[in-house]
Amino acid sequence: MTRTTWLRGGSLACAALLVVLVSPSSFSQDPTVIRVTAERFTFTPSHIKVKRGTIVELRLRSEDTNHGFRIVGSNFNAIIPKRGRGEATLIFRADTPGRYTFECSKMCGAGHTFMRGTITVGE
Ligand code: CUA
Repeated sequence: MTRTTWLRGGSLACAALLVVLVSPSSFSQDPTVIRVTAERFTFTPSHIKVKRGTIVELRLRSEDTNHGFRIVGSNFNAIIPKRGRGEATLIFRADTPGRYTFECSKMCGAGHTFMRGTITVGE
């Protein structure tokens, strides 16, 4: 069984760096799907680049244990279920150009603090 976790922006404290969309039906365009694999202790790809205004659908999957996915400076935080237990999906509109760091937010071993990556929103 594939479990999908839809994340919502809720009350965004992050000053619109990335706007998480509440409902897929609110899309004005098809999302760009980017699959990200988590595995001790890396995300693949770890550097994601999108154009401003893109609706991005991140599909987060693990190749081993539970990991987390948090965009630093925001309240976006998901658990990536362990291998074979489905995926977490995060949808957002990349509104503000810049470089945003994401990191693993669930303790997963000795290299946990090295599990990081970036999302670059270009003009
Ligand atoms: Cu992966 Cu902590």
